[in-house]
Amino acid sequence: MKVQQFDIHTVNVDLYEDFEKFFGNFIRSGRFILDETVQQFEQAFADSVGCTYALGVSSGTDALTVALMTLGIQSGDEVLCPSFTFFATASSVARLGATPVWVDVNLSDFTIDLQDAERKVGAQTKAIIPVHLFGQSCSADAVLRFAKKHNLFIIEDVAQAQGATSDNKTAGSWGHMGCFSFFPTKNLGGFGDAGLVTMNDKVLYEKARCIRVHGSPIRYEHTYLGGNFRIDTLQAGLLALKLPHVEDAIRIRRLNAQMYIRLLHDVPGIVLPQEIPGRRHTWNQFTIRVLNQQRDALKAFLEKHEIGSAIYYPKTLDLQPCLKDISTDKGYPTECAHQLASEVLSLPIFPGLTAEQIEHVCNTIQHFFEK
Ligand SMILES: Cc1ncc(COP(=O)(O)O)c(C=O)c1O
Repeated sequence: MKVQQFDIHTVNVDLYEDFEKFFGNFIRSGRFILDETVQQFEQAFADSVGCTYALGVSSGTDALTVALMTLGIQSGDEVLCPSFTFFATASSVARLGATPVWVDVNLSDFTIDLQDAERKVGAQTKAIIPVHLFGQSCSADAVLRFAKKHNLFIIEDVAQAQGATSDNKTAGSWGHMGCFSFFPTKNLGGFGDAGLVTMNDKVLYEKARCIRVHGSPIRYEHTYLGGNFRIDTLQAGLLALKLPHVEDAIRIRRLNAQMYIRLLHDVPGIVLPQEIPGRRHTWNQFTIRVLNQQRDALKAFLEKHEIGSAIYYPKTLDLQPCLKDISTDKGYPTECAHQLASEVLSLPIFPGLTAEQIEHVCNTIQHFFEK
């Protein structure tokens, strides 16, 4: 039985007719740039997160860039980032000339380790980027306490965790700014690249809106050094059709995760991901840890049995050639992050997966450890 790591068709098939109808109207409308379709999507998205403002942008990467630019992060500033995350979390900091400060992650939930952050925060530190990795939120209250104590901006990286909650707070609603991605594999996956920034502060919203369009509050008047960070109307319209169904998709992801946990709980040699009490996991990824240097062999074994899996992430960001010389771990290496890079393996968990496919994945994993 073939099982893909992610099957895009099963995720979108139920809405094909709606998408086609929208697309037909869209190409005839001639309104392709930031029209009311975008505004309606933004309002619906803000409502779904429980925040005041949402601003559609061109990608999750650009959401981070717009947020950092809006908060005035620049050369000489330090930003606390986990070293175990997708490249864009930190590259967006470095591209503005600021310094990523690598913070370790917890082995239990893959999110930023605030004890490590405590010894790395300093006079130059302006912001922290908690990344809600693999679909689970960081501890909202703990990050809020930490940021308040050190007077830091919080930029939530919600690319992988739309719909997650922690301490009764929805991810993307409690930082100064929240950054979402609609890359096709995300909880709300688009049809190309798109992203969005959330916030509650009107002043930040007005500035972010300018930065999205070349820093321009009025045409040909450039107050800030912005860019073209606009979301396509086409993406916004298609995403608006999917948005009401995202909760359903998360519900199915949660059921898939429960099934994995039930079937894999006594397999030796692996550590299962867990939902931390008080937090709602959205399971954008189901990432196990494979102990005793067996990860690559297990991945190859699954592949031989036509089961897809993925390694997010095989190399931590502190070791990336382009970031090495322009970032710092302040003399404390991020050891758990390094360990995870050699252990993690993400199994298929997308909503279109069948129970038979999950059973097959679990049986194959069991078989690997029995051999
Ligand atoms: C944690 C994280 N941050 C940022 C991004 C960047 O999003 P995008 O690919 O939409 O630019 C991603 C995308 O994979 C991500 O996983």
